[in-house]
Amino acid sequence: RGAPSWHIHPDAETLARHLARAIARMADAAIAARGAFHLVLAGGNTPQPVYAALVSRGRRWDAWHLYHGDERCLPPQTLQRNSQMAASVWLQQVPIPRAQIHDIPAEMGAEAAAAAYAAVLPPQRFDLVLLGIGEDGHTASLFPGQPWGLDPATPAVLSVHNAPKAPAERVSLSAWRLQRSRELFFLATGSGKRDALAAWRRGEDLPAARVGAGATVWLDEAAWPGS
Ligand code: 6PG
Repeated sequence: RGAPSWHIHPDAETLARHLARAIARMADAAIAARGAFHLVLAGGNTPQPVYAALVSRGRRWDAWHLYHGDERCLPPQTLQRNSQMAASVWLQQVPIPRAQIHDIPAEMGAEAAAAAYAAVLPPQRFDLVLLGIGEDGHTASLFPGQPWGLDPATPAVLSVHNAPKAPAERVSLSAWRLQRSRELFFLATGSGKRDALAAWRRGEDLPAARVGAGATVWLDEAAWPGS
């Protein structure tokens, strides 16, 4: 995988509209070619307008299979859970079969949830992985100074116990399992992401940069650190 490609949009709203269109097109192509679309969702706030824009764009919802790149270990139904966010903004409004929306378990500790989740991942590559980036260059729940799971011999799903971004307890797909995808899209909007993207472009060894080798970065002008 080579260097990432950077797609800059004037603002977050335009980015969300174009990205939702791109995701819907990729879904149609995957479904036409292989009968299913396996998509990994990003958590946090950035993807929310993209998910909202998808509500009016999807077509063959019956062939969509959704996973989460990471999850915050909080009680079920807590709004701050990434699965709860995706449900309230998007999934409760589209007819994707419930059995095809694979949430990371909430009612057990991180270790048990990580082991249980590894069992529901598809054997083949994902079609598309969506990821955010934190101000420290983290992605999913892979943080600087902690294990990222780059080696395919390590577990596909990691339990995280002292994440610097609350909550401390999380579950995350590993770097190698996130990379095992036909496409990876990073989403970054707002000036708060500029420093992390600048560090990535400078070649700093960050989780986002490692996972993002060969990825496409979707960003707005506010997040663009300049050439
Ligand atoms: C999480 C996310 C995390 C997120 C980044 C960016 O659980 O917090 O998985 O990796 O994508 O921290 O978050 P924002 O999009 O809210 O800035």
